[in-house]
Amino acid sequence: MELFQFGTDPWGQEILIRLGWGLLTVSFWAGIIFILFHAVYAVVWKPRVAVEGGAASPGIEANIPEKVVRHTGVARIFHWVMSASMLTLLATGFLPILGLDFAWLNIHWISGVILILCILYHIVHASFFLDFWSIWILPRDLKEAVQRTKRQLGQSVDVGKHGKYPLDHKLYHLAVTFFGLIVSATGILMMMRIDHWLPVLARNDTYFTDPNWGIVYTVHGFSAVLFVMLTITHIYFSLRPDKLWITKSMIFGWVSRSDYLAHHDPEKWVVTDDSSKG
Ligand code: HEM
Ligand code: HEM
Repeated sequence: MELFQFGTDPWGQEILIRLGWGLLTVSFWAGIIFILFHAVYAVVWKPRVAVEGGAASPGIEANIPEKVVRHTGVARIFHWVMSASMLTLLATGFLPILGLDFAWLNIHWISGVILILCILYHIVHASFFLDFWSIWILPRDLKEAVQRTKRQLGQSVDVGKHGKYPLDHKLYHLAVTFFGLIVSATGILMMMRIDHWLPVLARNDTYFTDPNWGIVYTVHGFSAVLFVMLTITHIYFSLRPDKLWITKSMIFGWVSRSDYLAHHDPEKWVVTDDSSKG
């Protein structure tokens, strides 16, 4: 399997052109294998290491609303627009590579611009209007990771409940943030290699030398390929019966008081009757 595709420049020298698309197959199967492993783990091993979470004190329980807001209306709109643009980018980016010939490029770059606008909006929204630190990995998460690993290995360790986002959600968000920024930055540069009608980023094939364009295309392709695995596994978790209570919150906005108390530590994800940051 070729990791990279090479071509020749006008002087007959070999230069890097883009990623080798065998990695698309690798990313797809890595996602499927992860799902299979997790599904077996969830049936065979997880019940053996699961422990009952302690009940919240009645005083705390009385202050929790019946419906706890997890994602506000605008946060949900953001998620679904971003999701639609990402699925369109994946389809328009990879279906032609898989042999389905259609006019993909205009749909692709327009979805790319929508994704970038979504990301810019989300950065402002999350920084000033949401509970910013709730999604980032903090020192206490690393402690939790060690405790969880010990418990998976059969030791009796009290892991405790988590805040709004458990470590696996934070890791996924970190990966999407990192590779989302990379695929966006390289996508913007690649706009200079195509004809489009935006007033900025006019065609300029000589902005980089040919070998450097090769690097830009390779980095874009690598992040794009990773999104195949990230998206397949993300959708798998959202469809799992034990996660449906979270999936519903991305549609309706809230989780029930009993789900909140069963999974979250009220001291780490603080909600009150009239306010809970989405
Ligand atoms: C995860 C999201 C994305 C995926 C899966 C993706 C996938 C791809 C793939 C597979 C290609 C073909 C690359 C090649 O021929 O080497 C491509 C090209 C391209 N992408 Fe993306 N892309 C994504 C995001 C973006 C974004 C955010 C933009 C920004 C507007 C963008 C703009 C472009 C452009 C302009 C090209 C065409 C370059 C050309 O043919 O010269 N892409 N993309
Ligand atoms: C049918 C497709 C999808 C479904 C059903 C879905 C479902 C969900 C749900 C239920 C959550 C909330 C998790 C929580 O409250 O803890 C979520 C969060 C998130 N989703 Fe999606 N999603 C989909 C597609 C996508 C796509 C394509 C992306 C692309 C990058 C994406 C990125 C994110 C991110 C970054 C978060 C925040 C991190 C997290 O909470 O885990 N989603 N998604």
